[in-house]
Amino acid sequence: MRKNRISRAIQAACCSIAILSGTTAIHADEGMWLPSEISEKIADMQSKGLNINAEDLYSETGVSLKDAIVLFGRGCTGELISPDGLLLTNHHCGYGQIQAHSSIDHDYLTDGFWAMSRDEELPNDGLTVSFLVRMENVTDKVLKGCKPGTEEEKRLKIIEKNSEKLIRKAEKEGVAYKAEILPLYYGNMYYMYVYQVFSDVRLVGAPPSSIGKFGGDTDNWMWPRHTGDFSLFRIYADKNNNPAPYSEDNVPFRPKNYLRISVDGVKEGDFTFVYGYPGSTQEYILSDEVDYIANVSNPHKIALRTIRLDIQNKAMSSSDEIRIKYASKNAGVANAWKKWQGEMKGLRRLGTVDDKAELEKNFNEWASGGHPEYEGLIDSMKSIIKEMKDYKFARDYYTEAVFAVEAAGMISRYMAMDVQDREKYAGTFFKDYSLPIDRETFIALTGEFMENISPDYYPEYFKSLLGDCGNDMARLADTLFSNSVFTDYERLKAASEEELESDTFSRLVTAFRKFYNDSIVSRTESMGRQLNLMYRTYMKGLMEFDTAMVFYPDANLTLRIAYGNIKGYSPSDGVYYLPSSTIDGIIEKDNPEIYDYNIPQRLRDVYAEKDFGRWAQDGTVPVAFIATNHTTGGNSGSPVLDSCGRLIGINFDRVWEGTMSDIVFDPDVCRNIALDVRYILFIIDKIAGAGHLLEEMGIAAE
Ligand code: ARG
Ligand code: GLU
Repeated sequence: MRKNRISRAIQAACCSIAILSGTTAIHADEGMWLPSEISEKIADMQSKGLNINAEDLYSETGVSLKDAIVLFGRGCTGELISPDGLLLTNHHCGYGQIQAHSSIDHDYLTDGFWAMSRDEELPNDGLTVSFLVRMENVTDKVLKGCKPGTEEEKRLKIIEKNSEKLIRKAEKEGVAYKAEILPLYYGNMYYMYVYQVFSDVRLVGAPPSSIGKFGGDTDNWMWPRHTGDFSLFRIYADKNNNPAPYSEDNVPFRPKNYLRISVDGVKEGDFTFVYGYPGSTQEYILSDEVDYIANVSNPHKIALRTIRLDIQNKAMSSSDEIRIKYASKNAGVANAWKKWQGEMKGLRRLGTVDDKAELEKNFNEWASGGHPEYEGLIDSMKSIIKEMKDYKFARDYYTEAVFAVEAAGMISRYMAMDVQDREKYAGTFFKDYSLPIDRETFIALTGEFMENISPDYYPEYFKSLLGDCGNDMARLADTLFSNSVFTDYERLKAASEEELESDTFSRLVTAFRKFYNDSIVSRTESMGRQLNLMYRTYMKGLMEFDTAMVFYPDANLTLRIAYGNIKGYSPSDGVYYLPSSTIDGIIEKDNPEIYDYNIPQRLRDVYAEKDFGRWAQDGTVPVAFIATNHTTGGNSGSPVLDSCGRLIGINFDRVWEGTMSDIVFDPDVCRNIALDVRYILFIIDKIAGAGHLLEEMGIAAE
C-alpha cells in the first residue's frame, strides 16, 4: 500500500515533499528546501517561529522575498537592500573584484573602498547577478515520450529534446532571460529555473581586509568569529529597467523587492532562516564513497594544498607586491584545504561510513524481502565505485597537482580559447603571476604526483621528458620554465602559433590534458553515468524503504530555504560556545604584529571612545552569530532572516566541526555563521563614514 503510494508519486513525477512530508525528519533543522514547494514546510516553520506565509517567501505572481535575492556571480548569494539596486554580499564574494581594482597605488584590499557618490562606483567586467523569475517542476514535460521500459540512451535524447524546447520558450518570456533544467534526486525529478541576468554590477563599498577578512585563514571556518565579511555592489539597468551590458547611460536598477533591515537584535533561540544558493551536497551517497572522501581523497588533497600554501605564504610574507598578487588565489587554495580537514574529522568522528553501511545492509534485507527491483542494486553500485577508485584518485592528482601548477592551468586554458580572447586573458594572468613561486610549486607537486600515481596514468611525453632530465625535477623545471614562451608575457605576445604549439611546456600540458581527458575523465564519467543511473533507482528505493524519512534534494546551486534557530554548541568535551560574538573579541584578538589580527587604527579609536552610537547593545557592538540552518558553499552572502522575513545578518561560513554537513548533518554541531547586520551598519557608519548608504537602506540618521 505504502509502496504503491510513493512509487506512484515518483512515476507521476511529483514525489514532492507534499507526499513525503508529515513524517518526521531524521535530524532537526536538516534540509535545504525548494522555495516553490515551501507551502509543504510552512506549518513546521510557523510552529518554530515564522510569522509570515508561504506566498511571502515565494510567489510567481506577487512580490515575495525571492525577488530580493540573487545568485551573485557563479557561486555566491546576494540580496537587494534598497529601492535603488543596492546589493549586499560577502567581502570574500566580492574579493576577486576588489582585488582586480587594487594596485600598490590604490590598494583597496588594504584600505577598503567606498564610493561616496554613484559616479565613483566601479564596473566589473564579467560579473553577473541572476534573479530567479520562477521555478517549475517540469518532470512530466521533460519525460514526455518516455515509458517505464525506455532505454537509457533514448530516455536521455528525449529529455534533451524536451528540455531544449522548454528552455527556448522560457527564454523568450523576458529580456536577458536564461533558463536551465536540472535533475533532482538523481533524475527522479526535473525542475526548470528561469532567471533574469544583469551584467552591469558595480562595486560600491568594501571595508579594509583587516575588517572584511579579519582573522584571515587562521579564523576561517571557525567560531568564535569576528570577520566583517561584507561588501556592497549596485545593479545597473537600462532606461527601461532591463538588464544591459555596462554603459555610462545605465541607471540604478529598481528591483521588484528589497529586504527590510531589522536592527532590533537577536538572541539565542530566535527563529531564523537562510534564503540563498547552496552549491552542492551529497547526502545520499553510499558508505564506500564516504570512505573514499574521508580516508583517501581528502587526506591527499590536503597534503597537496599544504605544499602550495607553504610556498605561497613564504613568498607573500616577504613582499607586499606578492601579497597583493596572490591574495585572492591564496585564499581560494586555503579555503577548501581547511574545509576538507574539518569534513574528514567530522565524518570520522560520526562514524558515517559505518552508519551508512548499516543502512545499506538494512536496505538489502528489505529488498530481498519482496522488492526485487532493488535486489543486488547496492552490490552493483559498490562494484562500480570500486572500479572507479583508481581513476578518481588519479583525477584528484591531476587537478590538485598537475593542473594546480599555474602555468599549466594557464597554457591549457590559453590553447583552448578563441584567439581573440587570448591577449586579455594572458594580461590578467600575468598581472598576478610569480614565476619563482610557480616553479617551486611545480617541482614539489610533480614530485608528489610521481610518488603517488602509477606511470600507467602518465602520458608518454612526460615519461620521455623525465628520461631526458634524468628524473631530476629541478632540471625538468628549468627546461620548462626558462625556455617557455608561456612564462613571460612579452614573449607570449610575440609568439607565433607555431611557437606556441612546439613549445615544450605547451606540448607537455597538451599531452597531460589529452591523457587526462581521454583516459581518465572519460572513463570516470562513463562509469559515473552508470552509477548515477543506479543512484536514481536507489533514491527511489530509499524513499520506499524509509517512509519515516523526509527527503530533500541535494544542493545544486539553485535557490533554497533552510531554517533553524540561533544556538550555541559544544565543539569538544568541556567546552561550550555561546552563539554570538562582539567587538570586544576583535579588540582581544587585535595585534599589530599579526597580519590576520591587525585592525585599522580607526577601529581602535572608535572602540577606545566607545563611540558605538545606536549600534551599541549592552555596552558593546554585536559582530556575528551562529544558528542551526543547514547551509553550504554558495550560501555565502545569503540573507539570514528573522521570523518576519527581515534581514538580521548575512551568512558567510560554517563552523569547522560541522563541515561534514555536505554529506551528513549533525544537529549538535552543524552551525552556519552569520555576520550581524548591526556590525555591517556600524562599519558603514563609523568606519567608512558612508551615512548616505544607511539613508538609502532606510536606516534614518540618528
Ligand atoms: N569559509 C568561507 C567560505 O567558504 C569563507 C572563505 C573566505 N576565504 C578565506 N580563505 N578566508 O566561503
Ligand atoms: N563561505 C562559504 C561560501 O562561499 C560558505 C561556507 C559554507 O561552505 O557553508 O559559500
